[in-house]
Amino acid sequence: MKRKFIILLASAFAIAIVILALMPGGEVKDITDTVNEDGLEWPWQAPDTALIPHDDEGDLIRYGRELIAYTAKYLGPKGIVANKTNGMNCQNCHLEAGTKPWGNNYSGVAANYPRFRERSGMVESIEKKINDCFERSMNGKPLDSLSREMRAMVAYMKWLGQGVKKNEKPVGISTKPVEYLDRAADPEAGKRVYMLKCQRCHGANGEGLADSVSGFGFIYPPLWGKHSYNFGASLYRLGKFASFVKTNMPFDARDEKDRLTTEEAWDVAAFVNSMDRPQKDISMDWPDLKSKPADHPFGPFPDSFPKHQYKYGPFKEIEQARKVKQ
Ligand code: HEC
Ligand code: HEC
Repeated sequence: MKRKFIILLASAFAIAIVILALMPGGEVKDITDTVNEDGLEWPWQAPDTALIPHDDEGDLIRYGRELIAYTAKYLGPKGIVANKTNGMNCQNCHLEAGTKPWGNNYSGVAANYPRFRERSGMVESIEKKINDCFERSMNGKPLDSLSREMRAMVAYMKWLGQGVKKNEKPVGISTKPVEYLDRAADPEAGKRVYMLKCQRCHGANGEGLADSVSGFGFIYPPLWGKHSYNFGASLYRLGKFASFVKTNMPFDARDEKDRLTTEEAWDVAAFVNSMDRPQKDISMDWPDLKSKPADHPFGPFPDSFPKHQYKYGPFKEIEQARKVKQ
């Protein structure tokens, strides 16, 4: 008798939980709002891909998205269109086809290009910026600006950024900045972080894991070695690397405790970027020396800090020195 009662009670409890779970949870938030109830701005949200039109322009946009997500299939070493890149996908760094807040999304591309960029000292078009990533992050060759592939990627980025006003930088663009350390980043400590938190996916030699089923691209992309980004890529700067991994890696992190601390992020950046990778002549970058970011490790420099500090920091002093001079 008593047992029956307990079973009945337990079933009633289970049913109540299911009902509660199915009930609409509070107020549904309008994702077009940019300010939440605490007055904080919401990160940008990509438009719904179901809204891409069904016409020629829509086909171009969809092809652009496909190229960002599966670049290697079309443009990698064994690409079905051309051989232009190292086998990585744009999406490996521009997460979720360039739509993820703080994951190097393309929210601000349409609204901010053409624009003057300090790195080249020139006004750059979207096409030029895309080709920068081909030549640096993908260690490859540029695409013809008029090719269908280039037009498709530009069309996709314009479609993604359609709601963003001219010159506006939406919340969630780029990666979430990380604080500078008061000490130099330490590659030895970074190696330990790597072995503990990165190696199981990116491999003991940073080589990643090729996708042997499709034959294109990587399940886990490489972090160094001949298939990785070259010296000229943004990720070669410790601050860019640290801020990307602090928010986005380990890829399967579920909450803050799985993520890296600020120190771990800088140290693992120092370790990964002290390993071998393809080179590129970038002596012409940052023609105005005072505009060189503090974590750009290649001379000429406008000041005379120790060589080790240009590569590993501490960067705050370098940044402050350049601010004073300007
Ligand atoms: C190894 C990583 C990596 C890969 C692969 C990569 N990029 Fe990038 N890309 C970056 C980083 C880092 C930035 C700089 C983001 C920043 O500074 O805010 C960037 C910037 C850009 C920007 C400018 C964004 C802006 O808001 O100014 C565009 C456009 C772009 N990439 C396109 C591409 C395309 C297209 C591909 C593939 C052909 C590609 N990238 C592959 C890392 C990468
Ligand atoms: C669970 C597997 C996993 C772990 C662990 C992991 N990553 Fe990744 N990482 C990925 C995947 C998958 C991508 C590509 C994302 C995509 O294409 O959507 C990636 C992309 C990257 C990229 C940009 C692409 C490239 O190859 O340059 C960097 C940098 C990176 N990871 C660094 C790290 C670091 C540092 C750690 C350790 C703190 C780490 N990852 C841990 C799976 C992982």
